[in-house]
Amino acid sequence: MKVIGLMSGTSADGIDAALTEIKGRGGETKIKLIAFETYPFPRKVRKMILDASDPKTARVDRICQLNFYLGELFADAALRIAEKSGLGIRKVDLIGSHGQTIHHLPQEKKEGRYKIRSTLQVGEPSIIAERTGLTTVADFRPRDIAAGGEGAPLSPYLHYLLFPHNKKGLAVQNLGGISNVTVIPARATINDILAFDNGPGNMLIDGVVERLTQGRARYDKHGRRAAKGEVDRGLLKQLLKHPFIHQAPPKSTGREEFGSKLIEDIIKRAGRKKMPTTDLLATLTAFTAHCIGISFEKFILPRYQLAEVVVGGGGVRNPVLMLMLRERLKPVRILTFEDYNLSSDAIEAMAFALLAYETIQGRPGNIPAATGAARPVVLGKIVPGATP
Ligand SMILES: Nc1ncnc2c1ncn2[C@@H]1O[C@H](COP(=O)(O)OP(=O)(O)O)[C@@H](O)[C@H]1O
Ligand SMILES: [Mg+2]
Repeated sequence: MKVIGLMSGTSADGIDAALTEIKGRGGETKIKLIAFETYPFPRKVRKMILDASDPKTARVDRICQLNFYLGELFADAALRIAEKSGLGIRKVDLIGSHGQTIHHLPQEKKEGRYKIRSTLQVGEPSIIAERTGLTTVADFRPRDIAAGGEGAPLSPYLHYLLFPHNKKGLAVQNLGGISNVTVIPARATINDILAFDNGPGNMLIDGVVERLTQGRARYDKHGRRAAKGEVDRGLLKQLLKHPFIHQAPPKSTGREEFGSKLIEDIIKRAGRKKMPTTDLLATLTAFTAHCIGISFEKFILPRYQLAEVVVGGGGVRNPVLMLMLRERLKPVRILTFEDYNLSSDAIEAMAFALLAYETIQGRPGNIPAATGAARPVVLGKIVPGATP
């Protein structure tokens, strides 16, 4: 099957569209990337997403509008990637769309006699199906939550298929807005996989750059600002007390824990110390690397022997972050997806193409060991394409 995967991560930087070819089943499933592109969000759309994600600024009428607007943008992304590949949308069989997370509340909260966990992704799949004529699978996370899981992470299944799981143990480390890791032990079966969110990825760095440049820059390009600064040990130590970092997996997180509230608080603390922006960014980059380091020391290295950590996601383009991560994880070897001939940017979108492929054939896509769900479940909601 030719399947398009659509994804926009917590960075809300743009829509990743991956056109893939998938065949086989179970451990024999093969997935090949045919074409990939990120379609960046215009500044205004990004602001709509961030406003809708923050309880302080969110408005239900705007969320309603945003859901359908993003549906159009996701549909455009699908049409464009099919065009770019030279195949055209009519040669494509299926779409898997993650949507845009605007809220994720994986901690159980009591409501009457129920314990509720919840998550909300927008980007209406009915619009995608209508514009493309293709059956569209979306909303993958809720079913895993219904089965007792966190609804995240969902990319470990793809990681398991793409990376060798024979002689050596390895970890796949994604550096998106949030960072998440998948551990594939030596000779692992799918039930041996450990996966969880480590904590912030680029989110705090992006947030501070954006705020302190009044939106002129959106991220610390090539880590240039952090490279000029020095890590403030005091602030770093304080930040490392964040409870999420020390919480045992399964766990997942997002803007709720590492978004605007924490960013404003950090900017205030740095202001009181009269800390230069470059020092603050060096500190936050170190914090990001340390969160990952701590999670390895606490939850991974005591249990698994790892030959290497393979890193992907937008953070790979930040050499300061990569250097700090290398130092922090020493002596474990650090590679990137590119060393495996894979794209650092495309993996997450490919994961949702794969999950749609499984769903449409009635097969589960979650890994209970990763999400904490009670059982494997078929994920998502299916919107039929055009009827012939
Ligand atoms: N050239 C670069 N230099 C530094 N950071 C970069 C660069 N390119 C991308 N990034 C970082 O990667 C982020 C996007 O990563 P991505 O994997 O798309 O995250 P998400 O899955 O959360 O959308 C950007 O917000 C930015 O922080
Ligand atoms: Mg992204």
